[in-house]
Amino acid sequence: MSSAAAVELCDADKIFHTHHFFQKHEETQKRRIYYKKTVHAVNHVTFDIRPGEILGLLGRNGAGKTTMVKMISGLVKPNSGKVIVDGLDVETKRLKVLRKIGVVLEGTRTVIWPLTPMENLSYFGNLRDVKGKILKERSKELLDFIGLTDKMNVEVRKLSRGQKQRLAICIALITDPPVLLLDEPTTGLDVQSSRAIKDKVIEMTRQRGKCVLVTTHDMNTAQELCDRIAIVHEGKLAACKRTEDLLEVFSDQTYHLRLDRVPDLAPLTAIPGVLSAAALNDDEGIGISVQLVADEAQRSSALYAVVASLERAGVVLRAINHAQQNLEDVFLRITNTDTKSGKSS
Ligand SMILES: Nc1ncnc2c1ncn2[C@@H]1O[C@H](COP(=O)(O)OP(=O)(O)O)[C@@H](O)[C@H]1O
Ligand SMILES: [Mg+2]
Repeated sequence: MSSAAAVELCDADKIFHTHHFFQKHEETQKRRIYYKKTVHAVNHVTFDIRPGEILGLLGRNGAGKTTMVKMISGLVKPNSGKVIVDGLDVETKRLKVLRKIGVVLEGTRTVIWPLTPMENLSYFGNLRDVKGKILKERSKELLDFIGLTDKMNVEVRKLSRGQKQRLAICIALITDPPVLLLDEPTTGLDVQSSRAIKDKVIEMTRQRGKCVLVTTHDMNTAQELCDRIAIVHEGKLAACKRTEDLLEVFSDQTYHLRLDRVPDLAPLTAIPGVLSAAALNDDEGIGISVQLVADEAQRSSALYAVVASLERAGVVLRAINHAQQNLEDVFLRITNTDTKSGKSS
């Protein structure tokens, strides 16, 4: 694992035990049934995040995403494994680590409603030892950056949900931490607020070299926002790759060729490297769909041969498109099969 990583999870594991007492006879109070449930919330997970990178944890509810965020921020102690932030072990250097992290947990009211955004930033800044001129300047700069300047003196309870969430991100950034953890930052927000948050997170990551971890169950958010995506399934990483590689690796190598007519398919299926060929007739016009082998060199030869064969047949070629799958297809394919334990790439 690279020493340049700002956040590292090394074989981190967390098992929760929940205990329930159930009293069967209300009157006699005699029979008590005791339940004990064990949940393997995070199952030997390894990944890292570098400065200037946005890593997305994508998974269904209950997959273990929030537990991973809490482990990094020192709120949940792993049963085994290590969590390192900026070279410091979260277990032994918890207070120092807290200064390096800004975290916005889902659904928690980190923002104080009777205060204004400026007052919120003053309050939380002072709590974290950011004071005086620096606090004032940074507060204004953050509110300006996130687009809340016109609301800086309005009570938070009068702000929209999206504006409250943007303020929560400003509060997390008041210490100018190198690491920002955002748990479901756009869940439940309207399209515009969600867009504004995504744009700002991307801008900040690129310009200021922050290391950002985002959890989401929303495919679009993951695809638009993240440089790398880790698919979390039942506490394990089912895949962890650059977003485009994830789409590429799990995509079928299918190409759509838009033509003026559907040609005879038999000569095409006889070409080495062509797995199948089918007629295509949809909104984008008519043509053929060819599925090719995964090997890049063989695939390239096959594609040239297909085009040459069409030319010999006198067919007009209008367009060739790689029929790439979207993240939702990839996600369903990965999480509907048995989980393989994955490692970061
Ligand atoms: N404090 C806790 N005590 C017991 N079980 C928990 C606790 N926190 C989370 N869990 C369980 O761990 C699993 C993962 O939860 P969580 O990390 O919140 O998932 P996600 O954020 O992906 O929805 C769930 O089954 C959840 O019920
Ligand atoms: Mg969660």
